[in-house]
Amino acid sequence: MSIGIIGSGQIGSAFARALARNGIRATIANSRDPESLAALQAELSPFITAGTREQAAGADIVLVAVPWEKLNGALAGLPDWNGRIVIDANNPVEPSFRKAELGGRVSSAVFADAVPGARLVKAFNHLQPHLLSGDPASDGGRRVLFYSGDDAAAKEAVGGLIERLGFFGIDLGALAVGGKLVEFPGGPLPALNLVKLG
Ligand SMILES: NC(=O)c1ccc[n+]([C@@H]2O[C@H](COP(=O)([O-])OP(=O)(O)OC[C@H]3O[C@@H](n4cnc5c(N)ncnc54)[C@H](OP(=O)(O)O)[C@@H]3O)[C@@H](O)[C@H]2O)c1
Repeated sequence: MSIGIIGSGQIGSAFARALARNGIRATIANSRDPESLAALQAELSPFITAGTREQAAGADIVLVAVPWEKLNGALAGLPDWNGRIVIDANNPVEPSFRKAELGGRVSSAVFADAVPGARLVKAFNHLQPHLLSGDPASDGGRRVLFYSGDDAAAKEAVGGLIERLGFFGIDLGALAVGGKLVEFPGGPLPALNLVKLG
C-alpha cells in the first residue's frame, strides 16, 4: 500500500522517519513546494520523497498532521477520497493551547467532514514526536501506539503498519470511544509513554 503524508512538521516528519527506518516508502507534502523538503528528502532517501499535496493525498494511506486551525486549508480542493484510508494524527488545539470548539463532537468526527468518503483511523496523535521517530523497542518491550476507527479493514491496515514500525498497537475500538480516549486536551491517554512488556 502506498503512503502519503500531509504536513511535514514535528509529527509528519517523525512519522516519515519511523517509516524510513523500517524501509517503507512514502510521499510527504507541506504547504509549500516540494523543494522546501529537500533536506528531509535527502536525510530519508531513498524512502521518503517530497511531493505535492495532491500527490501525497493520492496514496492508499494518507496521514494528516497539520495544526487544527489549518486543516481545512490543507485538505481543501483535493480529489475525491474514494474510500482511501486517512490517518487523523491531529489534536484539536488552538494556537492559544485552548481546546478548539467541537460542538460536543469527538475531534475525529469534525476532522471527517474535511475528508468526505475517506475511511478514517485515529492514530499517531498521542506521543511526542521524538518517541514516534525513535526506536520503539524500550525497556525490554515495545512502545504502545493506540488506534481507533469505524472501518474494520482500514483499522486492520493501520494496525498492521503500526506493527511493521515495531510498535505495540492497541485497538481502542470505534472513533467515538477511542477518539475520545486519545483526544488532547481532555482524554486520559495523550502523552503517556507506555511500553508493553513481554
Ligand atoms: N507536536 C506534537 O507534540 C504533537 C503531538 C501529537 C499530535 N500533534 C498534532 O499533530 C498535528 C501537527 O502538529 P505538528 O506539531 O507536527 O505541527 P507543525 O510542526 O507546526 O507542522 C505543521 C505542518 O503542517 C503543514 N501545513 C500547514 N498548512 C498546510 C496546508 N495548507 N497544506 C499542506 N500542509 C500544511 C505545515 O507546512 P509548512 O511546513 O509548509 O508550514 C507543516 O509542515 C497537530 O494537529 C497537532 O495537534 C502534535
